[in-house]
Amino acid sequence: MTGLREGRSGLNDYIPVKKALEHKIGEFLCWPQFNQEEAEQRVEQLVALGVESIAIGGPHGVLGTPILGKGHAGVVIRAMYQGQEVALKARRTDTRRGSMSREAGFLEHVNQWDAGPKLYGFSEDFIVMELLVGPYFGDWVKTHIDDRKAVIKNIKAILDIAWRLDQSSLDHGELTRIRRHYIVTKEGPRVIDFESASFDRQPSNLTCTVQSLFMNTSFAGFYGKHYSLPNREALIEALRAYKTEPNLDHYQEILSVCNLG
Ligand SMILES: Nc1ncnc2c1ncn2[C@@H]1O[C@H](COP(=O)(O)OP(=O)(O)O)[C@@H](O)[C@H]1O
Ligand SMILES: [Mg+2]
Repeated sequence: MTGLREGRSGLNDYIPVKKALEHKIGEFLCWPQFNQEEAEQRVEQLVALGVESIAIGGPHGVLGTPILGKGHAGVVIRAMYQGQEVALKARRTDTRRGSMSREAGFLEHVNQWDAGPKLYGFSEDFIVMELLVGPYFGDWVKTHIDDRKAVIKNIKAILDIAWRLDQSSLDHGELTRIRRHYIVTKEGPRVIDFESASFDRQPSNLTCTVQSLFMNTSFAGFYGKHYSLPNREALIEALRAYKTEPNLDHYQEILSVCNLG
């Protein structure tokens, strides 16, 4: 972990969006296949959105340049919006995703359930959202496994997020691999990346999260060395009951089987 996840760089690193294409960071506005015309059109989108400036920096290196993150649909860079630091997700030029509007709609929806980074704005190729600073849960837990209180508190908070997502009727779609989908901020864990979300599937946010924490995963093996893992049969039974009827009682039963109740 380096860079932004630990500390903040000076504000003077920020490049006004209109000058962005003259700098290294400008490449990421139209990435991985840079095209001048497309890039200029994207800069216009940022101006219209009210994004003031963008900057290099963050825990992930892409060809030697540190940025906030990279996925298969977008690259995420630091930006300044209405005087505050935010995360700017730019649509990759090689993604099948046609526009950012779908993901932005999902973010807007889960924000009402107190989940996900806050959405500030979006356009065809960009999402402007709350900047979340901290390690992925998968990395955080490796360095904090002995802090029993914090481990239990964060796992409980992660399950609460998954429960709220289920209640919201939206399926995140990637919580079978939770390692990189929860960022542990100073205020607690937060879920990211609604790129693969859908209202068309039965939400399985909680069951996927529980399975990726406690069943047959490398995390479960690691966790089991320090804490008692939930009883397998009891957990399967509790998950089954919850799947049939995802109500508060059944959620609390899962918590109690996981020794978190
Ligand atoms: N709001 C945010 N604040 C800080 N970093 C973020 C934020 N959203 C995403 N990231 C970083 O960017 C990476 C890629 O974002 P993600 O939404 O997963 O893109 P994709 O849809 O392409 O998978 C994430 O793994 C994370 O490291
Ligand atoms: Mg992703």
